[in-house]
Formats: sequence, structure tokens, C-alpha cells
Amino acid sequence: MSTNQTYIPALSIDALTRYYDPALATIFQEQRFRMPLVNRNAQTGDRVLDIGCGTATLMLLVGEHTAAKCVVGLDIDPAMLATAAQKTAQRNDLLLLTRGSAACLPYADGSFDHVVSSLMLHHLETMQKQGMLAEAWRVLKPGGSILVMDFGPVGSGMVTEGTAAVFGRFERIDDNLRGRVPEFLRVAGFVDVFMEDVALAGVVKMYSGRKG
Ligand SMILES: C[S@@+](CC[C@H](N)C(=O)[O-])C[C@H]1O[C@@H](n2cnc3c(N)ncnc32)[C@H](O)[C@@H]1O
Repeated sequence: MSTNQTYIPALSIDALTRYYDPALATIFQEQRFRMPLVNRNAQTGDRVLDIGCGTATLMLLVGEHTAAKCVVGLDIDPAMLATAAQKTAQRNDLLLLTRGSAACLPYADGSFDHVVSSLMLHHLETMQKQGMLAEAWRVLKPGGSILVMDFGPVGSGMVTEGTAAVFGRFERIDDNLRGRVPEFLRVAGFVDVFMEDVALAGVVKMYSGRKG
């Protein structure tokens, strides 16, 4: 899968991409759901990779609130990266942007201490999700961690089924709503896999794991 592949833009339609940052700030409790990703990351000297970095909001928070040595952001959408480049212009010493696909990360094996990803996984089809997590495992050092913020199952079986039936049609969110992300992490090779509620009454989860 190359950068020529089709992908789902941040707000589903290219024309809405310019409204991504204001929409996130308004609709989501943005600080609340991003800070758990930041707080658990990056000791001195660590290298952090943000897959599907979008407009670099999370990268900036990691750069500001941790002692990371280098925060690399990868995204497939040039429009998102253009905004990211503007926002990170003052921190080129620390924050690096790359255009690329999550399916084939342009980094050597074992080159990062932490991988983070927020609100990106549900943009991928099932096999692409599995491919992205396998790539994340490959580029992590042994003992390295992954933190993924994304949608997850809510409520009882019937509620989950109903939500999946409605939203599964619109985006590739069905795997999330059916609670399959922890399984995908384990299949990719991660250990100590956990899923916990983060925001929006448990609709947004944090998935964590470690490369053993
Ligand atoms: C909803 S946005 C989230 C952006 C950012 N992580 C955040 O939390 O604000 C999803 C991002 O995933 C990117 N994306 C979608 N498919 C991708 C792929 N196959 N490889 C890399 N990035 C991808 C989109 O371009 C978009 O920037």
C-alpha cells in the first residue's frame, strides 16, 4: 500500500479537512483524551512515532510535556501534513513530519521507544488495521510501548450491535465497536494488552501494549 492508495480523510470528505482542528476542539474533550497518551510517554532521550499524526496536535503535546528526544509524525494526507507543518514550524529540532502509509512504515526495525496513534485506526479496513499494528510492532524496540486512542465497544451486547449496525456502514469503525482491537494488538505480537475508557463516556478508549 503506497501513498497513492485511497484513504478516508480526517472528516471523511476532503473539503472538510480545513475544519478538522476547530471541529476536534469543539466536539471532543480534546485535552482530556489526548493527555493520557502524553502522560504515559517518553522518558529522556526517547524516540516517539505518531502514526496518522494529522495536524500534529498530539505531537506538539508530546514535545511540550515530555522529555522525548524526537517525535516523528507520519500521515498519508498532504492537506493534514500542510497544517501540521505550519503548527510545528517552530519546533523542527524536535518534531519531524513524513508523508507515508501506515501499511509500510519507512523506518528501520526497532527504531522507536514508543508508538502513539489517535483517532486513526478506525480509518482502516480490518486487514489494514492488522497491517498497521504489525508495522508498529516492527519499528518498536524490544520493551517499547504502543498507545492507541480510538473508538471502542460501548454498553451491552445489544447496544454494541445497534451502534455497529448504524456506524459500521459509514466508516471502518465496526471492528472497534465489536471490541476487536485488543485481539488485533495481540495478533501483531504485543503483550500486556489493555483497553480502558478515556473520554465521551467510554466511547473513546485507550488501547495499550508492549513489545515483549
Ligand atoms: C481523524 S484523523 C486523526 C488525526 C490525529 N491523529 C488526531 O488525533 O487529531 C485520522 C488521520 O489518519 C490519517 N490516515 C488515514 N489513513 C491512513 C493511512 N493508511 N496511513 C497513514 N495515515 C492515514 C488521515 O490522513 C488523518 O490525518
